[in-house]
Amino acid sequence: MTTPIVSIRNLKVAFAGGAVRAVDGVDLDLGRGEAVALIGESGSGKSVTLRSLMRLNPERRTRVEGSITVDGRDVLAMSARELADFRGAVVSMIFQEPLLALDPVYTVGQQIVEAIRRHERVSRAAARERALDLFRRVRIPSPERRLDAYPHELSGGMRQRAMIALALACRPKLLLADEPTTALDATVQIQILLLLRELQRDLGLSIIFVTHDIGAAVEVADRILVMYAGRIVEEGTARDLIRAPRHPYTIGLLKSRAHGALAKGARLEAIPGAPPDLANLPPGCSFAPRCPLAIEPCRADRPPLVAVKESQRARCIRTEAAATLAPQLEPTG
Ligand SMILES: Nc1ncnc2c1ncn2[C@@H]1O[C@H](COP(=O)(O)OP(=O)(O)OP(=O)(O)O)[C@@H](O)[C@H]1O
Ligand SMILES: [Mg+2]
Repeated sequence: MTTPIVSIRNLKVAFAGGAVRAVDGVDLDLGRGEAVALIGESGSGKSVTLRSLMRLNPERRTRVEGSITVDGRDVLAMSARELADFRGAVVSMIFQEPLLALDPVYTVGQQIVEAIRRHERVSRAAARERALDLFRRVRIPSPERRLDAYPHELSGGMRQRAMIALALACRPKLLLADEPTTALDATVQIQILLLLRELQRDLGLSIIFVTHDIGAAVEVADRILVMYAGRIVEEGTARDLIRAPRHPYTIGLLKSRAHGALAKGARLEAIPGAPPDLANLPPGCSFAPRCPLAIEPCRADRPPLVAVKESQRARCIRTEAAATLAPQLEPTG
């Protein structure tokens, strides 16, 4: 077995002098060429986890514990110089809002050429050739002409593609995608998801994809990790989590979205209550106050991650009872 490209152990990230525990003991392994999705409600710590992999949280105001290894390197031990080499060339990030990643005063082509030349000694012409190749890969029509466009001259979908091209400019092995399709309309969203899948296959990329949308997660990811209040509460293959979720929170997420595969007449229910205050987490399971299955021990001790089967684990002591709550899927095939 090859070593994973990403290995996170007991990662804890806190803000406000340690009071706000945004990430509270996350373990995550990502195989080479694998795509995983991190899902969960707003404020669960998805972006903070992702940013930790590139050390993009504001260092002076952030307390970090645990270990992060990416492609064999100890991320938390890197010098500023090593970090500058590492960002872009080993790991790259794409965002919901491409205008934050793209500079308005340069053409998208110039930005890609500059990014390449910052990391590698190649001629301007060779870098532009690679930019053109990237534009073709991300399926931007009339790529030669579009390379000379400024970001605001491109449509939202095209801008998203240009940002992906920029992220891939220095041939990273790992792509981090933070809600990359949330701002796009449904048809463009699907196109971008399919594009990411294709890039993953063709370039052997590893991807961590953050989303609110369990449907989008199933589209791009081999494996899904569900995050709640800074912890991974369930993980499994996309199929495991859709067909047989075992954490009451995952079940709540599935029931709260209008999913085509839910049985006719299945009601859409919101998860009652609100996510906890990260500065005041309850002692036991963070989800217990909202959980329909919570019993006394849930409120007393932090639940362990229980193996439900080989590919699936849930941080819950009531996985058997949870099985009976899972939404009914229409039989397929
Ligand atoms: N730099 C920071 N300083 C202080 N608190 C922060 C900082 N960054 C994030 N947080 C807090 O950490 C918690 C987790 O934030 P994070 O951005 O990871 O959530 P998320 O799961 O990505 O949510 P969303 O789905 O809304 O993007 C939130 O309570 C947020 O306010
Ligand atoms: Mg986020």
